[in-house]
Amino acid sequence: MQHLMTGFETVFHTPPEAACFAPGRVNLIGEHTDYNGGHVLPCAIHLGIRCAAARRQDRVLRFFSRSYPETGVISVSLDALHTLNCWADYPVGVIRSFEAFGYRLPGGADLYFTSDLPDGAGLSSSAALETATGVMLRYLFSLPLTQQELAVLGQFAENRFIGVNCGIMDQFASAMGKSGHALLLDAHTLSYQYAPLGDAALVIVNSGVRHSLAASAYNDRRRECESARSLMKVPTLCSLTEEDFDSLSGRITDGSCLRRARHTVTENSRTLAAVQALTRGDKQAFGRLMNASHASLRDDFEVSCQELDFLAETAQGLAGVYGSRMTGGGFGGCTVSLMERGAEQAFIPAIQEAYRQRFHVTPAVYSVTACDGAKMLSPEHTDGAFSVT
Ligand code: GLA
Repeated sequence: MQHLMTGFETVFHTPPEAACFAPGRVNLIGEHTDYNGGHVLPCAIHLGIRCAAARRQDRVLRFFSRSYPETGVISVSLDALHTLNCWADYPVGVIRSFEAFGYRLPGGADLYFTSDLPDGAGLSSSAALETATGVMLRYLFSLPLTQQELAVLGQFAENRFIGVNCGIMDQFASAMGKSGHALLLDAHTLSYQYAPLGDAALVIVNSGVRHSLAASAYNDRRRECESARSLMKVPTLCSLTEEDFDSLSGRITDGSCLRRARHTVTENSRTLAAVQALTRGDKQAFGRLMNASHASLRDDFEVSCQELDFLAETAQGLAGVYGSRMTGGGFGGCTVSLMERGAEQAFIPAIQEAYRQRFHVTPAVYSVTACDGAKMLSPEHTDGAFSVT
């Protein structure tokens, strides 16, 4: 728990009023489909961001993150919100989104964040930071916002104020996850349902690779998808079945755009097939779809890298593993593997050793559980009591 409450007091010299938790997410399948109007199947994970906070009498916002102690306390006036070029742009972006949608904060607040999510590893630490901010401000100022609206405002913050043209998956998973379940989201309509994960184990392996141009490469992929969509004159790529795509794809002359579109259409079908497999308890079939998803991201969408390929392929050959693939936007980050409960014990040292031999570094591994979306914490879930004002 990293001493959330005492940390707040040390930094802000007053006790916090409340604490909340917003999870990161791991996407099981449905990659680069959300901004193409398709389906995704992430789950919220027990790793995430905690926030302790208190209202202030003036119109000042102050932020501190234990992950970025070097930036110290960051102060900004509610009347002059602007880009700060540091991590606090995420919470500030959420507040600017609130204002853009007519939810004005009546006063300032102090917010203190801790995280047990690795940054830049594709487990949605940014979405968790946005959702934690949203849940906390909603509580402190009694704002009439639903969890889904918080997800939409988090995405708006990222698109408008951070400049990353992401889809809705990460914020939605962080806000709407359900313990023991994966979340099937139709990113076009925002309708969703939950699929039980049963007793399978989920293990995330962090390649440690971070691509400095990941955000611009992501935006490039979006542009290629958009170009394919407009050449085929369809409302979204994921409105196409694979048969529709085969009959229309001749209109796409550029080879890269064609492959991006083919990944998107086939990935959407795989995601729908995967949720059916999960619902009928067929984890082997689910795993095969994860493996096929990885191959498509590697060959058609071209967002993998040799480290992720190595991790996915090695995992796919280990005992008890149903399937393994890169997860998240790509260009580095993590793989996710679904396996028989109990198989983790042999899997973890085996994958770490294989990676160490090949790349001379031991990868961080997280055995994760699917958990509920962002929520306020009661005092027993923190390391101290709240001051109730
Ligand atoms: C990032 C984005 C998501 C989604 C994935 C790829 O995580 O934030 O919206 O597009 O990449 O599936």
